[in-house]
Amino acid sequence: MEISVKSGNPEKQRTACIVLGIYQTRKLTHSAEEVDKASDGYLSSLIRRGDMEGELGQHLMLHNVPNTLCDRVLLVGCGKERKLNESVYKTIQADCAKRLNQSGASEAVSFLTELHVKTRETHWKVRTAAEESQKALYRFDQLKSSKNLPRRPLKKITFSVPSRRNLSDGEEAVREAMAIASGVHFARDLSNMPANVCTPTYLAKQGQQLSQQYPGIKTKILEESDMEQLGMGAFLSVSRGSSEPAKLIVMEYLNGDPDDKPVVLVGKGVTFDSGGISLKAGAGMDEMKFDMCGAASVFGTLRSIAELQLPINLVCVVGATENMPGPDATRPGDIVTTMSGQTVEILNTDAEGRLVLCDALTYVEKYDPDVVIDIATLTGACIVALGHEPSGLFSNHSPLANDLQNAGRTSGDRCWELPLWDEYQEQLQSNFADMANIGGRSAGSITAACFLSRFSKKFHWAHLDIAGTAWHSGKNKGATGRPVGLLSQYLLDYQQDKKA
Ligand code: BES
Ligand code: MN
Ligand code: ZN
Repeated sequence: MEISVKSGNPEKQRTACIVLGIYQTRKLTHSAEEVDKASDGYLSSLIRRGDMEGELGQHLMLHNVPNTLCDRVLLVGCGKERKLNESVYKTIQADCAKRLNQSGASEAVSFLTELHVKTRETHWKVRTAAEESQKALYRFDQLKSSKNLPRRPLKKITFSVPSRRNLSDGEEAVREAMAIASGVHFARDLSNMPANVCTPTYLAKQGQQLSQQYPGIKTKILEESDMEQLGMGAFLSVSRGSSEPAKLIVMEYLNGDPDDKPVVLVGKGVTFDSGGISLKAGAGMDEMKFDMCGAASVFGTLRSIAELQLPINLVCVVGATENMPGPDATRPGDIVTTMSGQTVEILNTDAEGRLVLCDALTYVEKYDPDVVIDIATLTGACIVALGHEPSGLFSNHSPLANDLQNAGRTSGDRCWELPLWDEYQEQLQSNFADMANIGGRSAGSITAACFLSRFSKKFHWAHLDIAGTAWHSGKNKGATGRPVGLLSQYLLDYQQDKKA
């Protein structure tokens, strides 16, 4: 879909559809008032008759509104003006795009960017409207034989800005939104792909394709033999039970000052997590194809940043493997040596994400990173602790944790910090090795993060546990593309701060 911005009066738009907001109860927004005046009170008389209260979620499509140049007017209920916060604003934009897509209008000019959202200015409102509209039209139908597309889908949407002075700001906001939405879209596609298609080898190919599409990206694939030479005994212990070869995918996007240390993203790419010998229960096991959503978010973020041509140095590393109970699989009680030299007693083969990540974290030391962020569907316990709203956040450096929480607020893709206190480290004690890979029943996401922290001592590091945010279950089962929005925003802010 194409997206642009313009300033101008609603009644003068020559287009298939204009979109106007109505607050509850029956209160016209500024642009709705303008159309009302131009049409000699056509809208207010409809509203007085009771056709539209302005409740959130209400929509009313009008045709032939007097003295307008458009084919249609879509009235959108925005709820109580004072209750219109950031998340309501997002819902309004997403619903509107879906509605337009089904309306038969292939283009529209939306005035919903004039809605008041506390402390948010034009840039944020246009960026969010554009991003939410794009994301709302996402569908995953590559593997369906009939696609069920609308006959005349929405092809172009134009958002209004208050005046011509806001045009360049609005255009920049659209550029950001398009880049981020394309990254989110990519992440969702990779995540939704079933595990018989999306194997570690498939992910490696995606990395190679990115480097062909974006000349700024260089991709290198490490094979199991390479990882053996590096001594990645933890990572390799996970792939042993699978016939799919593991891959360590390294993508470098070096578009900043050559002297600037890079930001490094590390993604968990378990393309299917059966649990291994510590086999998972059957119910809902299909959802373990989503155990590579951390990797998908790394691919997606890299794509957003390359699309924006952001002048930063970014290194992306994905540990891709299956976790299967094949004849050569790791047994509970086995002890492996990690690339760092520390030994691990694997008491549960289902705690495999940390085994993949620990070696990837040691590997990235060679980049002398400014910051390392790993992203993983790491623990079911994170869902118990935080539910499905924020991703879990852990860090050994509080300014980094603050920056991530702020980026979460701006993007609406939020995270929430949990403690990483030394006291929890004791739970990883092992009688036979330097540590165990599980920490017992309590504080499961914290002890998982504690495990990773032992491999992250040499840099500023944050860990995002996205077990509760990466996908929806149930009727709307599917990947969310989170936290591409959060990470892209973090990197935009990072670049801004660097400049200042
Ligand atoms: N990929 C899972 C975590 C997970 C489970 C994410 C369900 C989302 C939904 C991870 O590999 C895992 O199995 N973790 C175990 C750890 C336990 C064995 C210490 C878990 O959470 O049960
Ligand atoms: Mn597991
Ligand atoms: Zn897993």
